[in-house]
Amino acid sequence: MMGGKEPNTNEILPDQTLALFGDYRKLLEMDHLYNAAIREMQVKLETLNDEFKVKYERSPIHHIESRLKSKASIIKKLVARKSEVSIESAKQNLNDIAGIRVVCCYIDDVYSVADMLLRQSDLKLIKRQDYIETPNYNGYRSLHLDIQLPIFLSDKTEYVNIEVQLRTVAMDFWASLEHDLRYKSGKDTPEEINLEMHICADEIAEIDRRMQDMYKRIQQL
Ligand code: GTP
Ligand code: MG
Repeated sequence: MMGGKEPNTNEILPDQTLALFGDYRKLLEMDHLYNAAIREMQVKLETLNDEFKVKYERSPIHHIESRLKSKASIIKKLVARKSEVSIESAKQNLNDIAGIRVVCCYIDDVYSVADMLLRQSDLKLIKRQDYIETPNYNGYRSLHLDIQLPIFLSDKTEYVNIEVQLRTVAMDFWASLEHDLRYKSGKDTPEEINLEMHICADEIAEIDRRMQDMYKRIQQL
């Protein structure tokens, strides 16, 4: 810890707490690892975006969000999948402990940022789900890439999975509000709301295509 202000807990904690602290320490190590993965991925994306700014005077990425899955959500997901509840099991079974959302300006930007990222030789694609080509049951659109990346630690290299969600600003607008509405409505959203959500998603997708088209037309002027 920087600054040397953290107490040496090994010295001050009683034996029993020390046993627990062993696990707590592993949890801290896990947080560190996945935070490092988010940071690495963020730097890669920012580098690509900055290069675009220099070369083409525009940014394909509108903004980036990231989150570390909460411990409660990790446990819930492992239990739901009937997987063992342990740090090792979480690392092996869950690809979205670290999540990064790349909100792009136009549809083409989503695919070009994804291609540029996947060309990087240190990254390995684990799973690709194209919900833009094939939207979800309710019209959800995004490109999901589960990617493995190496994190170089002091004495070993850990390979960490991270879920990268790429979408346009328009897709993000829909997904954010849909999430909010679904959360507010409780567990089961009524079918008619799902249907209306789907219609809204399709209308937004049409606007996305028109925005993309206008961008292309302006490029040709
Ligand atoms: P996981 O291993 O849990 O990722 O299973 P999966 O790969 O089948 O799930 P997927 O990656 O397709 O979707 C997981 C994430 O996508 C969610 O946590 C949301 O962030 C996002 N997502 C998927 N479907 C919806 C949706 O209908 N609405 C919204 N708002 N977000 C969605
Ligand atoms: Mg996923």
